[in-house]
Amino acid sequence: CGIVGVTGKDSAVQILLKGLKRLEYRGYDSAGIYVNDQDGHEYLVKEKGRIADLEAEIGSDVHGSTGIGHTRWATHGIPSKANAHPHVSDDGRYYLVHNGMIGNFAELKKQYLSDVTFKSDTDTEVIVQLIAKFAQTGLATKSAFKKVLSLIDDSSSYSFLLIDNQEPNTLYVAKNKSPLLIGVGDGFNVVCSDAIAMLDQTHDFIELVDGETVVVKPDSILIEDVAGNKIDRKPFHVSTDASAADKGAYPYYMLKEIDEQPGVMRTLIKHYIAEDGTIKIDDDILQSLHQSDRIYIVAAGTSYHAGLVGKELLEKIAKIPTEVHVASEFGYNPPLLSAKPFFIFLTQSGETADSRQVLAQVNEQGYQSLTITNVENSTLSREATYTLLLYAGPEIAVASTKAYTGQIALEAILAKSLGELRHIEAAADFDVAKELTKVANGEQELVDEKKEIEKIAAALLPTTRNAFYIGRSIDYDIVQEAALKLKEVSYIQTEGFASGELKHGTISLIEKGTPVLAVITDKNTAKHTRSNAQEVMARGANVVFIASRSLANDSDQIVLPDVHPLLTPLVAIVPCQLMAYYASLQRGYDVDKPRNLAKSVTVE
Ligand code: G6P
Repeated sequence: CGIVGVTGKDSAVQILLKGLKRLEYRGYDSAGIYVNDQDGHEYLVKEKGRIADLEAEIGSDVHGSTGIGHTRWATHGIPSKANAHPHVSDDGRYYLVHNGMIGNFAELKKQYLSDVTFKSDTDTEVIVQLIAKFAQTGLATKSAFKKVLSLIDDSSSYSFLLIDNQEPNTLYVAKNKSPLLIGVGDGFNVVCSDAIAMLDQTHDFIELVDGETVVVKPDSILIEDVAGNKIDRKPFHVSTDASAADKGAYPYYMLKEIDEQPGVMRTLIKHYIAEDGTIKIDDDILQSLHQSDRIYIVAAGTSYHAGLVGKELLEKIAKIPTEVHVASEFGYNPPLLSAKPFFIFLTQSGETADSRQVLAQVNEQGYQSLTITNVENSTLSREATYTLLLYAGPEIAVASTKAYTGQIALEAILAKSLGELRHIEAAADFDVAKELTKVANGEQELVDEKKEIEKIAAALLPTTRNAFYIGRSIDYDIVQEAALKLKEVSYIQTEGFASGELKHGTISLIEKGTPVLAVITDKNTAKHTRSNAQEVMARGANVVFIASRSLANDSDQIVLPDVHPLLTPLVAIVPCQLMAYYASLQRGYDVDKPRNLAKSVTVE
């Protein structure tokens, strides 16, 4: 979910709506705002669906200078108008928006609120009703708010924005595990889940630490820690241009972000590699990695798939054993760790709760860690020992594209510098700047041929129920991401499968016409994958070959420019991303906002 708040600006409604649109990637099943002016007028508008649906519901009379807003990704309770935020207490005094999940909401409800009739099924309504209940016993709002916070159990996560309509220009704010920033203005202040929401208002933001509460008024920001001590914290500056978050002439963000990938490669080279080829990565990071005996890469979704390629790079170029783990699995069933582990967290947003809970454990155990992320000052960046940034520019489409290729490129740069430090021959032979430049050119060639991919997608995917991507070795890493892309935006049930393993069971799913996309960039397994493709063709599959130029046959439908064998995912993924993009549009879906998903998932 995404939340926004503002106090001290007459255009509160417009500011909240603009902010929510920028946060729509965090959830888009329902939305709402509450605003008030300082003369006792107040408005609560909620709607199921997108921010545009909410906007259509907002009448011209709705106005104010203070308000809060929310865009939802459902956890407790179906997407509906009743379950949309803000939630309001029965006495009509308190309005609350919440991002996160309250683990013990049912217990709190039972213990304190058995006499209250609830209007929604959400955990959030329990919190707002409870604040009102404590206020009714005579507690001041801040004390009632803090009392409720103290009753929320450790499994919970939240960022809250609360308004008491008896103090109409004040925002009460608290956060634990879920992200939240205070934006500092001149005569006004704002609050948001992600700086991107408020870049039109300010570029100066104050980060909050878990457990803190804040009272925000138009000309003051009062931060207190759990014990009630006043905290003085300077804002940090976000230089991102607000327009970087717009889609310009593109019909969809996903296409824009696919097209941006060659540029992302070049920016990474510029940031991390000097003219003379020296790599500009902090020596402390390299020494920490060097002293460890095993690297654990922890991530979710697409970032996990970038981690699979990271393992290849780190093991082959830096010769350091590397394991890759899905964060939500690692957290509660960790493997037996080596004596000197080092952790790498891959996360586009830097906010994924599944990854963060692993980092919290890693910190508790005193291990060193590195977060590779696209978002400066994000939670995982702040909490890890070290950070390396992707500089890919805001990624808005829910399906991740340029962050995947950016992460792999940065892993390649890291593997090169670590390998050099360890005097590994493979590292000395790996001219990473030259190889990534080749990748950038190759990606450009592919995005320029997108019309070809559109045609192949139209012939293969508009009506199919299922599909397969197959490959071996590094191509197996690629097909797992290719399959995720296709399924998340086109809703075609797609498996990314190790092609040699098909015959051990899964081949039973192949029928006449089943689309199978075979990725062939690894020369050691190219022949094997081709014969596995023959096996499915013999059973009626409709096979499309995506092969590196040096390994391609004349009849292969998609030919990839040749690049370094460990960097082939960076080019091979491009036609697969485009395939997913076109399949989604051809099937009539909103490719930037696929059903049921959110880009930044801040609940476990
Ligand atoms: C969500 C998104 C995925 C993303 C994953 C991890 O599930 O829908 O696209 O890959 O989170 O996100 P992160 O920001 O940690 O890379």
